[in-house]
Amino acid sequence: MQVIELSHPLKNHYLTILRDKNTTVEDFRTYASKLSYLLILEGSKNISLLNKEVETPITKTEGYEIENENVAVSVLRAGLGLVDGVKDLIPNVAFGYIGVQRNEETAEPEYYYENLPNLENKNVFILEPMLATGGSLSFAIDKVKESSPKNIIALTVISAPEGIKMLEETHPDVTLVTGNIDEKLNENWYIVPGLGDMGDRLFGTI
Ligand code: URA
Repeated sequence: MQVIELSHPLKNHYLTILRDKNTTVEDFRTYASKLSYLLILEGSKNISLLNKEVETPITKTEGYEIENENVAVSVLRAGLGLVDGVKDLIPNVAFGYIGVQRNEETAEPEYYYENLPNLENKNVFILEPMLATGGSLSFAIDKVKESSPKNIIALTVISAPEGIKMLEETHPDVTLVTGNIDEKLNENWYIVPGLGDMGDRLFGTI
């Protein structure tokens, strides 16, 4: 599995604000959104281009346009925090949603909702901000693979080594783009140092 960890001073700045327990809900949303642009910029480096001639005020020249084959699947609910960058930067991207929640006692993924566009032969970005045990993301990838996509790129804000190992075993063909690889999981399967519960902090349900 290809794992890409962002390396950019802006990432360090944004992530520190997201980690800070005193960051307001409003700032948390703002900086999650900003980070989503960095993640999708890195994650979209290999998407396909078509040739397109363009006429400048001076002459005709060769140009390009993004091939219309990109879909983002947001894992509810925390994945909604990464929608902005994808929506603003990827032309004509389609969106799908998968609802998976973690059983707080067993940490097993529990599925509750699905609304997916056509994924066949598409380039699919899966938005799942916290890769902890890997259960939810692996489950979402299983679902996406049922529809025969061309490529799968997972975008996460923070990843735990345990989750990366799990994904490497279950989905070695996927590319992971992550803001940061943190130290470990704690006894409640939260990422350390992490940022707490991404969904709660994003939606003010703490
Ligand atoms: N989900 C979160 O929101 N935070 C964690 O630390 C782990 C899973």
